Amino acid sequence: MLSGTGGHEFAAYEYENSPHAQVVTNGCPSCHMATPFATQAGGHNMGMTYESHGSEVDLVTGCNVQDCHWGAVTDFDFDGARAEVNALFDQLHTALINGGILDPSTDLAVPGKYSEAQAGALYNYLYVEGDRSEGIHNTQYAKGLLESSLSELGVPMIPTAGGPLAQKMTSLERVLRASR
Ligand code: HEC
Repeated sequence: MLSGTGGHEFAAYEYENSPHAQVVTNGCPSCHMATPFATQAGGHNMGMTYESHGSEVDLVTGCNVQDCHWGAVTDFDFDGARAEVNALFDQLHTALINGGILDPSTDLAVPGKYSEAQAGALYNYLYVEGDRSEGIHNTQYAKGLLESSLSELGVPMIPTAGGPLAQKMTSLERVLRASR
């Protein structure tokens, strides 16, 4: 997810990456081993959240360093990015259940024969879920996978604010792109 690969990329779409895919020069430790909060998060603990006065707090010390977010991040829902990813994720979850593809009681696939749109959408759902960062590792890529999956399933989407949709290209654009 961090490097913007591994999802099911539908041929007609262009997928974008968040800056995290490029600016994180030291890989996973940049965030997971950032300046720790005691022994609860960061450092060798690698956790990203800790308990403080009975509530869960996000460890933002890795986000707020120079050349990254410069102190602007107070929690992981920066600019509402996480809420947007989760809203799309929930829409896809519902669409897969309504389509009889996902078993809501097990969160596993209902065995069957599926089209590329259905199987790809299911795969992207499980991929975003299994990443477990709720879009933080690469918000644009996660949103692109979720949006293109919804679109391929024919679900009218609630458009997300700000962030670009996975760009669906015309067949001419696809030919031009392939010949580059
Ligand atoms: C840009 C910062 C950043 C980078 C780089 C990063 N992560 Fe994360 N990661 C996060 C955040 C933020 C979360 C969400 C933590 C939460 O909300 O509990 C997370 C969550 C996770 C989780 C789920 C943890 C849990 O408790 O559920 C795993 C596993 C994980 N990351 C692994 C990795 C791996 C492996 C890499 C390197 C390939 C990596 N991360 C790189 C920020 C980062």
